[in-house]
Amino acid sequence: MSTVLEVQGARHRYGATVALDGVDLAVEAGECVALLGPNGAGKTTLVNLAVGLLPVHEGRVRVAGGDPRIAATRRHLGVMQQSTGFPRTLKVGELVAGAAVRAGMRRSAAGQVMAEVGLTDLASRRAGKLSGGQRQRVALAMALVGDPALLILDEPTGGLDVSARRVFWQTLAQRRERGAGVLLTTHLIEESAAVAERVVVLHEGRVLAADRPDALVARLPERTVIARTNLDAQRLRALPGVVSVDTGSELVRLGTRSPEALLRVLLAEDPDLSDLRVEGARLEEAVMSLTDTATMEVTA
Ligand SMILES: Nc1ncnc2c1ncn2[C@@H]1O[C@H](COP(=O)(O)OP(=O)(O)OP(=O)(O)O)[C@@H](O)[C@H]1O
Ligand SMILES: [Mg+2]
Repeated sequence: MSTVLEVQGARHRYGATVALDGVDLAVEAGECVALLGPNGAGKTTLVNLAVGLLPVHEGRVRVAGGDPRIAATRRHLGVMQQSTGFPRTLKVGELVAGAAVRAGMRRSAAGQVMAEVGLTDLASRRAGKLSGGQRQRVALAMALVGDPALLILDEPTGGLDVSARRVFWQTLAQRRERGAGVLLTTHLIEESAAVAERVVVLHEGRVLAADRPDALVARLPERTVIARTNLDAQRLRALPGVVSVDTGSELVRLGTRSPEALLRVLLAEDPDLSDLRVEGARLEEAVMSLTDTATMEVTA
């Protein structure tokens, strides 16, 4: 397997703000890595180092073995920025064809990639007249058209509707089968759990965890007992082993580390209990728990 992105000990400051404080990260060919973390964690900064827009102040960044500050290296890259602006008067087909030429491809490569992301019907629409989700799709087509070894996507699915998102993930899966590596940032954590082999959690410029999504979830000992019950919140909170109570919906959600013991008491206390199920934690909870703990350690 070849490494398409390698980041070692990367540091970057904006004046007095340390945005990245020694980050290591790698993406292998065909692999999808999700970069997660709260607002301001340093995700976009890391993306900008990887695409050669910002210099590393310390450390090393390599894309397909080369320095992304060099134009020849950037040919291996397909990029979707967090905020994309297009010249409003250019047509979709012209934008994608321009990206093809810049990536060293023929203009005709544009037609194929527009079909791939469902843009064929919009080819002659001017950029200024696109919806937010359509603009996202144009940005994706421009990222894909050079057949890159590494795709770097900063919040790529924001603004996409459900069916456009499905097309988006299918397109990425096909590209990965052909060997492209993917680094993406997203706040849709459950979505990344479904598509990424590995998740890297960034917090205040440092990597808190880098692991498979299921392995991160397994670090959390908590389970959630979900049921329809007549017991009120106060009574639920007093049950043995309950660490959290959420009565926000029709079904209550009880957090616990000993679901078996809780279930026995719950069934005994409420004979009318129904719709019972027990769930493991979700990736979102695992990530929150990591970043909350890190925040507490900083402020303690
Ligand atoms: N151009 C800049 N000048 C000064 N500080 C900046 C600049 N860009 C980012 N920062 C700061 O660097 C830190 C990291 O920002 P970054 O944009 O990388 O975060 P992020 O993880 O992408 O956040 P978000 O989820 O909101 O997109 C933040 O504290 C931010 O305020
Ligand atoms: Mg960002």
